[in-house]
Amino acid sequence: MMYPEVRLRRLRQNERMRDLVAETRLNADQFILPIFFDETISQEKTTASMPGVRTFPLKGYDKIASDIQDNGVNSVLVFGVPEHKDAVGSSAYAKDGVVQKAIEGIKENSDMLVISDLCLCEYTDHGHCGVLDDSGYVMNDETIELYGKTAVSQADAGADIIAPSGMMDGQIAAIRMALDDAGHKNVPIMAYSAKFYSAYYGPFRDVANSAPGKGNRAGYQMQCGNRKEAMREIEFDIAEGADMIMVKPAGPYLDIIRDAANTFDLPLAAYQVSGEYAMIKAAAQNGWIDHDRVMMESLLGIKRAGADMIITYFAEEAAKLL
Ligand code: PBG
Ligand code: ZN
Repeated sequence: MMYPEVRLRRLRQNERMRDLVAETRLNADQFILPIFFDETISQEKTTASMPGVRTFPLKGYDKIASDIQDNGVNSVLVFGVPEHKDAVGSSAYAKDGVVQKAIEGIKENSDMLVISDLCLCEYTDHGHCGVLDDSGYVMNDETIELYGKTAVSQADAGADIIAPSGMMDGQIAAIRMALDDAGHKNVPIMAYSAKFYSAYYGPFRDVANSAPGKGNRAGYQMQCGNRKEAMREIEFDIAEGADMIMVKPAGPYLDIIRDAANTFDLPLAAYQVSGEYAMIKAAAQNGWIDHDRVMMESLLGIKRAGADMIITYFAEEAAKLL
């Protein structure tokens, strides 16, 4: 049967009917809010390219945590901006490092799920995600050893999940072994598996002060056009022991999210990154788009593509609308 007996508009005639047949739903339990702590500031601050995203000092955790939870978000992804940067990113694995302190503070003051981003770029003076040799090449095997150390220090501080974002080969296995050796057998790894060499990270680097001084990240992050390779990255991470996988960025990579959802059974996260957020904010501030509708549509699209969890700077605003 076809038109005129069949009419697809029958199921669109009112809101109740539409809600009943909605195929994709957003759920705030699956939102993860990235948050930034800067040990060099004593007052909260904002960054022009990320309207509404606040960077916190290392204090007032009770307020930060309860604000976020009051808005309906129970998971955060923590980033740190350290006072001291050096060639080997030693503040990333210092016992009293900025992220370690932030994790402790949030865990003490809330029952929020704390995911810890693990990379060296915020902590190195050259801004790369690992340690360099004399030619400026990011040395893989030396770097993943430091990732292992960093993971242990973050888990010691109380992180619930470790999320390595550096795109070094073998990083998941190195981190899994380091965590297990240190007695953190139950700390899961959320692998930034398919992380692309994207221009959409620009505003993040303003916030985190982590742009590489020389060169770029094309030698370790993935080429934007590579779909098969993304599946290989994910496959390797799973073989190395990842508990969850991630595609990043999200909006421009919905096909990769769909491929991953079809191919793998692990919980799948997608990271709606800083540039995706900034573009929506900027257009909305100009009155060119409807902020709330575009925000929700961008998140729904990521979910429909197959993401289970969404890391998004909109987490609180979107949760409030649900
Ligand atoms: C660190 C890291 C970055 C992001 C998350 N973790 C920056 C980068 O790789 O340059 C980007 C997040 C965003 O843009 O929102 N490796
Ligand atoms: Zn990095």
